Amino acid sequence: MLSGMSVFREDILEGHVALITGGGTGICRGIARAYLAHGAKVCITSRRRELIETVAAELSAETGGEAIGVAADVRDPEALVAVVDATMERFGKLDTLVNGAAGNFLAPAVGLSSKGFRTVVDIDLCGTFNAAKAAFAAIEGAGDGLILNISATLHYHGTPLQIHASAAKAGVDAVTRNLAVEWGPLGIRVNAIAPGPIGDTEGMKRLTPGELAAKLAGQIPLRRFGTIDEIAQMAVFLRSRAASYVTGSIFVVDGGQSVTTVGFT
Ligand code: COA
Repeated sequence: MLSGMSVFREDILEGHVALITGGGTGICRGIARAYLAHGAKVCITSRRRELIETVAAELSAETGGEAIGVAADVRDPEALVAVVDATMERFGKLDTLVNGAAGNFLAPAVGLSSKGFRTVVDIDLCGTFNAAKAAFAAIEGAGDGLILNISATLHYHGTPLQIHASAAKAGVDAVTRNLAVEWGPLGIRVNAIAPGPIGDTEGMKRLTPGELAAKLAGQIPLRRFGTIDEIAQMAVFLRSRAASYVTGSIFVVDGGQSVTTVGFT
């Protein structure tokens, strides 16, 4: 989504600087692109150095914005501090953190090792906490801060083969509410987006093979998967002044999937 295709004014995010974990691919690459296209400066981070540097260069060229890519594993708190430092050094401030780094795979509980469960909780949940801690001082200092966590709807019901990711995302929702309460008085809003099935992501292609995807889409009230741009637009709204009184909220963007009873749509 370049700003011309967005419903928002082109300069609506001017003056903001965002750190986006998991920004090399999928939904968070889309959020990075949208933020850049609307005037924010962006640091994206992921484990893969080459990928993250290439994507930062691509996004800068495509949007005309300023992006840097710095490699870090969100399981490593010190590496995240280094990413925050690099962002401050380049852009002079940091007022926004998007926690998007996530790992997932399909596994039945009975076949999932303790380490497998912990690995996903470490990335999705502990990684969110680690990044929030690493960015806190910079975001508090900047004023008008925002932490935006990418959650999910998996844990609203029991989701087969997803016990690890469901537990992790339930924790992300708890972190969202707790930080909103603790950091609201310090001028930091904390919200989450809970995407449903988003069709044009690597995760969706991997986790929902062909036939299952068509069946799943048929059970969604809006009868289709969402797009990365539809999540990115919500992320732009939450960073904008239009959301200045919004904190502790989890925005479900799922075509109505999580409120329907399968078989009745
Ligand atoms: N099924 C069952 N267990 C799995 C698994 C799978 N498909 N993939 C990983 N695990 C388990 C491993 O078996 C290991 O546990 P064990 O040593 O007891 O067997 C544990 O998870 C750690 O795996 P490892 O590959 O060493 O961890 P990692 O830190 O390198 O990567 C992930 C973990 C989750 C990120 C990895 O699955 C991955 O790279 N996924 C693709 C990227 C991705 O998930 N993107 C997000 C899309 S939503």
